[in-house]
Amino acid sequence: DWTAEHIVEELIEGVRQQVGEGRVLLAISGGVDSSTLGLLLARAIGEKLTAVFIDHGLLRLGEREQVEAALRPLGVHLVTVDATAEFLGALSGVSDPEEKRKIIGREFIRAFEREAREYGPFDFLAQGTLYPDVIESAGGLSSDKSGAANIKSHHNVGGLPDDLAFQLVEPFRTLFKDEVREIAALLGLPDAVRMRHPFPGPGLGIRILGEITPQKLDILKRVDDIFISGLREFGLYDSCSQALAVLTPIQSVGVMGDERTYSYTVALRAVTTGDFMTAEWARLPYDFLATMSSRIVNQVHEVNRVVYDITGKPPATIEWE
Ligand code: XMP
Repeated sequence: DWTAEHIVEELIEGVRQQVGEGRVLLAISGGVDSSTLGLLLARAIGEKLTAVFIDHGLLRLGEREQVEAALRPLGVHLVTVDATAEFLGALSGVSDPEEKRKIIGREFIRAFEREAREYGPFDFLAQGTLYPDVIESAGGLSSDKSGAANIKSHHNVGGLPDDLAFQLVEPFRTLFKDEVREIAALLGLPDAVRMRHPFPGPGLGIRILGEITPQKLDILKRVDDIFISGLREFGLYDSCSQALAVLTPIQSVGVMGDERTYSYTVALRAVTTGDFMTAEWARLPYDFLATMSSRIVNQVHEVNRVVYDITGKPPATIEWE
């Protein structure tokens, strides 16, 4: 019979047997799978683990600090790297969504390899692969959407340079997401991280429609923070599967005091879904939406219009890019 305690003991034992005295590298995305794996590996092998968190500058407000605060006190040797300038430089002038994804993926690998050399050599690369991922790639259904934080999707072990030819450590290969969440609770991962909505690897980079600029990023971070904090404050966060804000390139006329404004439109989107293949738009209460709208336009002066996306998937996707 499945108990989280029992599973954790077995996973730890398995990792120790596989790894021996070897050193292990792990990419932390900030999501529940890699964070939980970080905690498990820290318990199993302590300092022989190095966890690397690449901040591409497309994260939400305070996200890097939140991950650091969640993992370091629990003994994870976590290296965080601020690669914002590199990523934004590479993305400058680019507006095609798939092109943006490719650049973010490529820059991620570049930064990750650099850190691997800096802190290496390593014998193993750990990944938070879950059972559904195993099934999906076996069936050849794997889409191109796994995101920058997933090394596997960008190049498998065979594709790495010789000095970075790791063996894989994938303790969660037989587990489902719910089981990982139970293990996370047992290992002490804070609920804010443990119950987080999924967040795409390319982050806010695909929620700024068109070209990404530092100014647009700054606007979207503040809008997103108001919306997500609002959902938590009003007890609505757990009723949605995913919620997000999109900065559109549309500027429209508004009025503020005696003055006309010409500022951005943001879209809020929240969905409910089981598998993210199809989704319904979340029926958030009007009063809540009204509160979000006034907070956003009052606090973020670059925005003068807020819309709520009432489209299901299909025909729309969850993200706007
Ligand atoms: P869509 O927009 O296709 O999204 O309905 C379905 C789910 O996938 C996430 N998503 C991504 N995740 N890299 C990722 O890691 C990506 O490029 C990417 N694009 C979409 C999206 O957030 C949603 O959860």
